[in-house]
Amino acid sequence: EKGGYPDFMLKEIHEQPRVIRDTLAGRLSAGALEIDELDLSPEELDLIDRVYVIACGTSYHAGLIAKNLIEAWARIPCEVEVASEFRYRNPIITPTTLVVAVSQSGETADTLAAIRDARVKGAKVFGITNVVGSPVARESDGVIYTKANKEIAVASTKSFLGQVVSLTLLAMLLAQAKGKLKTSQVRLLFRELADTAEQVERILADDAAIQEAALACKDASSALFIGRGMGAAVSYEGALKLKEISYLHAEAYAAGEMKHGPIALVDEGFPVIAIATKSPVYDKVVSNLQEAKARGAMVVAVATEGDEDIRAHADHVIYIPKVRDAFSAITASVPLQLFARAIAVARGCDVDQPRNLAKSVTVE
Ligand code: F6R
Repeated sequence: EKGGYPDFMLKEIHEQPRVIRDTLAGRLSAGALEIDELDLSPEELDLIDRVYVIACGTSYHAGLIAKNLIEAWARIPCEVEVASEFRYRNPIITPTTLVVAVSQSGETADTLAAIRDARVKGAKVFGITNVVGSPVARESDGVIYTKANKEIAVASTKSFLGQVVSLTLLAMLLAQAKGKLKTSQVRLLFRELADTAEQVERILADDAAIQEAALACKDASSALFIGRGMGAAVSYEGALKLKEISYLHAEAYAAGEMKHGPIALVDEGFPVIAIATKSPVYDKVVSNLQEAKARGAMVVAVATEGDEDIRAHADHVIYIPKVRDAFSAITASVPLQLFARAIAVARGCDVDQPRNLAKSVTVE
């Protein structure tokens, strides 16, 4: 049932182009974006003046990506918070607050508790989940299903991508309802979003550079992931994936934070994995790379195809196709999944069943 792959994780990583296509199927009708299941009229959507994305673990990282898009496109203030924190404080919730609960399993205890709390306080709650009829789906006002199908590997990959694509649609929908994106812009964005399926296919077709970088890092005892903007969110997820399946300690930082502490960790051969794709903050990330390199770091850069200059600042370059910055988290996450898996395999770990972890966390 692994479809010829050595483990479920690799099989599921390779399913991601299909997940993108299925998540988008039928969403654009007569040029406008439609998410009927949410059951809110354009007028109700237009009233939303605050968004909280609530989730745990990898799903929380999908939320960090969504915050960038919701604020950039819809111009609605958006906060992302881990459910175990959100539920125990007193967040500002009004009837025009939208809470978006993201959960692959749809049964994470803290996320469910946060949903219940938010509804009692009068918020609208949208669920984004992979499991049809799950508690998150049942207890939310509306639900978007990520079309990942059953995910077996404990480390989430394809459902994460499904979450990111679903949240991207939600951000577009909010922007459309608020009149911040014109129909023609929505159509263009949608087409480019759909193109990421083929771009991910291309990344999956050649993992030689990823394998090489993984071999160079596999014996490290610690690694740092850095990026800015979308790249920061991708870094957090890259570090989580690596630590959970390979037991190699990894941390992620917004690259601008390096000189405020973490750069003290860098010595000869210390792996620094940088998301250095072309974006408005590219030059800033490159200067952070140079600072790490000058202190002996072994730099692995995830960069945009055609960027030859980056080679001067990195020991290993993993090229990915050029996409609009808004969609870069979709493409840049994939090599980091493969990177984490390659290191875990090289270290002899059971990639599908990491120690101490369960696929679904139904107790707090
Ligand atoms: C990491 C991972 C976990 C889950 C987290 C939330 O690969 O799978 O961090 O993302 O336990 O689970 P869900 O999304 O089911 O609420």
